[in-house]
Amino acid sequence: MSKKPLILGIESSCDETAASIISENDQGNPVVLSNIISSQVDVHKEFGGVVPELAARSHLEKIDLIVKKAIEDSGINIEEIDAVASTAGPGLIVCLSVGLSFGKAFAVSLNRPFIAVNHLEGHALSPKLNSELDYPYLLLLISGGHSQYLSVKNLSEHIRLGTTIDDAIGEAFDKTAKLLGIEFPGGPKIEILAKNGDPNKYDLPKPIFNKGGCNLSFAGLKTAILKITKQIKTDQEKFDLAASFQKTVIEILYKKTKIAFSQFEKQIKPNKKKFVVAGGVAANREIRQMLIKLCKEENYEPIFPPIELCGDNAAMIAMVGLEKFKSKNFDSLDYPAKPRWPLDEKAKFLKGAGVKL
Ligand code: KG4
Ligand code: ZN
Repeated sequence: MSKKPLILGIESSCDETAASIISENDQGNPVVLSNIISSQVDVHKEFGGVVPELAARSHLEKIDLIVKKAIEDSGINIEEIDAVASTAGPGLIVCLSVGLSFGKAFAVSLNRPFIAVNHLEGHALSPKLNSELDYPYLLLLISGGHSQYLSVKNLSEHIRLGTTIDDAIGEAFDKTAKLLGIEFPGGPKIEILAKNGDPNKYDLPKPIFNKGGCNLSFAGLKTAILKITKQIKTDQEKFDLAASFQKTVIEILYKKTKIAFSQFEKQIKPNKKKFVVAGGVAANREIRQMLIKLCKEENYEPIFPPIELCGDNAAMIAMVGLEKFKSKNFDSLDYPAKPRWPLDEKAKFLKGAGVKL
């Protein structure tokens, strides 16, 4: 029996230092042997957001130990590793540089190939860690930095159908939480508060709801919430605002996803209609439920990563590394860190938005 590939994945694009070893079984499905994540939430909490310099310092302090633990937990010997895959972008350049340099040095010391991974491609492939996933599919990527609909034709071919013209969804969740006095990152806590609130209490705006195809916008929502938070006094009102915000986001995603479905079908003409939802916000159970219901209505197969692999992790980076390793798609040691690295390389500035997409 031939040896199964063993890939070390390293992630350090933002505020999680992570390492993972993955391999595959006889059926060719990936097997996660270890998945170590060290979050820096405590480092950045008091600043209400990620401070790049502190994040990079924390990556530097922890990366050796995290990689060592990932190798130990996997039960393999270091010499058995076949390739090293590091996130090369997009993300904070000072943070990316840590994992990227570490990965390159590790690959050189083992005399193994080095693979540079796009973090977004990692999210896009993360459902493959626990279920079958073949191309093509429609991808909704919802994280702290991105909100995009993409047609995924294969590992390297993505066509963007829509994106946010201002804030990402995770960012909108975090900003709403901050306005409600919740510690960073507040996204997951909004979901919890919303359980006790009345989603119909506040009528919030839905920017570009009836125009802009499946592009998204959340900045206007944040402004409306700022006004309301100045007036609210009780905890119940906070719960109601969290619930109203979440309901509004869900209504926006329902409508925009329907538009993305029809664009995807026109563009790709898929035999099977598959819809992958990935990124930190894909952990939100209310959003998941709505998207699953929509998939039933529209005859799509909904595919989500397991909740614990929605946020940033290195298993998804190793997953892309495994795919690239199998097709001998290696990278050179002068591969740069890319703070901006859209999945759709043709993505340009969206007209009128004034932001990099
Ligand atoms: O993918 P991710 O870990 O990091 C980025 O690549 O950005 O996503 C983090 C984002 C944060 O904005 C966080 O608040 C949000 O995902 N998030 C959630 C939930 N869990 C994480 N937002 C809403 N509901 C959740 N349950
Ligand atoms: Zn991410």
